[in-house]
Amino acid sequence: MRALLLENVHPDAVTFLAGAGIEVRTEPGALEGADLIAAVRDVQLLGIRSKTQLTPEVLDAAPGLLAVGAFCIGTNQIDLASATAAGVAVFNAPYSNTRSVVELAIAEMIALTRRLTEKNRALHGGVWDKSASGAHEMRGRTLGIVGYGNIGSQLSVLAEALGMHVVCFDTAEKLMLGNARACATLDELLAVSDIVTLHVDGRPGNAGMFGAAQLARMKPGAVFLNLSRGFVLDNGALSDALASGRLAGAAIDVFPSEPLHQGDPFESALCGLPNVILTPHIAGSTEEAQQDIGRFVSAKLRDYLAEGTTTLSVNLPPIALPRSPGSCRLALLHDNTPGVLADVNGLLGDLEVNVEGQVLATHGEVGYLLTDIAADHPAELVEKIAAMPHTRRLRLA
Ligand SMILES: NC(=O)c1ccc[n+]([C@@H]2O[C@H](COP(=O)([O-])OP(=O)(O)OC[C@H]3O[C@@H](n4cnc5c(N)ncnc54)[C@H](O)[C@@H]3O)[C@@H](O)[C@H]2O)c1
Repeated sequence: MRALLLENVHPDAVTFLAGAGIEVRTEPGALEGADLIAAVRDVQLLGIRSKTQLTPEVLDAAPGLLAVGAFCIGTNQIDLASATAAGVAVFNAPYSNTRSVVELAIAEMIALTRRLTEKNRALHGGVWDKSASGAHEMRGRTLGIVGYGNIGSQLSVLAEALGMHVVCFDTAEKLMLGNARACATLDELLAVSDIVTLHVDGRPGNAGMFGAAQLARMKPGAVFLNLSRGFVLDNGALSDALASGRLAGAAIDVFPSEPLHQGDPFESALCGLPNVILTPHIAGSTEEAQQDIGRFVSAKLRDYLAEGTTTLSVNLPPIALPRSPGSCRLALLHDNTPGVLADVNGLLGDLEVNVEGQVLATHGEVGYLLTDIAADHPAELVEKIAAMPHTRRLRLA
């Protein structure tokens, strides 16, 4: 088995995959065009981050490719439909930087509520400005979390540890942790929160969900954070609310349009406003998160190769099957059409092969079937399943 890891994937991923007996080649940067096509031709595993574009042409050029590891959170850079059609499993690391985002949110909440940005700037400018005016403790203040998912719920726990009251609004039914209280509406949350922080996902319906109307419903002197997605917020309306003094401060990490390259110029209506922290989409960017991503994704790739496990796959139905001792595992990716399971088991029955374990899941266009059988099965079995009309890919794991 050969793996190619591009874009400076964390060294722990190399160590992990090499330890699983896989020959690993690394490239520091992204590849594109003919270079990428030539590089993927003879690999079974490909590791990328956000810059390598896996188009249908690239996937076509890699007939032996079994799985792609996106060593990052997003998978927009991969043509998932083509990967699925080609029987290529895709994995990412959806939770690896959750804690990093939460810690930055806590840091920014404290910095803004203590007006550290202004004190810091004044003293660097040679001005001694010692005053308690407008500075508050976190203890006893109310934090309003919009979007109570992985990040929002973990933030809730840490904020309570600081002595804050936590209220949340989520469009889905969520289990509240600790003493957090769910609000029935966003307006209810805005009316009571000293700090409002957005942690919603990037579904298209969230475009512009937070604008002038929502900012006007926040408490005067409240603080606002957006570390989720740039397009959910009207930055112009936020700039007005800050410039008028209605809001006491804001921290923004994500923007509707973000520069693509290191050192590119950046413009925003928020630049230059007092008590505003602007960061270049780094809420999840820590060395710990990168290391966790490296370990998490490489473990998913190893488990897929060794056991056929698709738990947390982005594009294949998620299944895992405890291995029957001494058995041989058939991992069959097939068209999602009725009768495939019956056909496979009919064939096994005809050849007098006993099933020792089996699990099937279907999703969208594909079905995925893991079957454990005795290691000494007739040789023709594999050929016959591979030749079945709805087989997309058959592998012995
Ligand atoms: N700035 C960064 O570096 C960084 C890093 C990681 C994640 N993120 C972003 O943070 C956000 C949250 O990530 P997560 O892992 O917690 O996602 P998640 O999917 O676990 O949680 C999102 C939550 O938002 C809720 N939601 C969606 N639309 C809503 C709405 N209009 N009103 C209220 N609730 C709504 C969902 O029901 C869900 O519970 C995502 O947008 C993600 O892209 C940013």
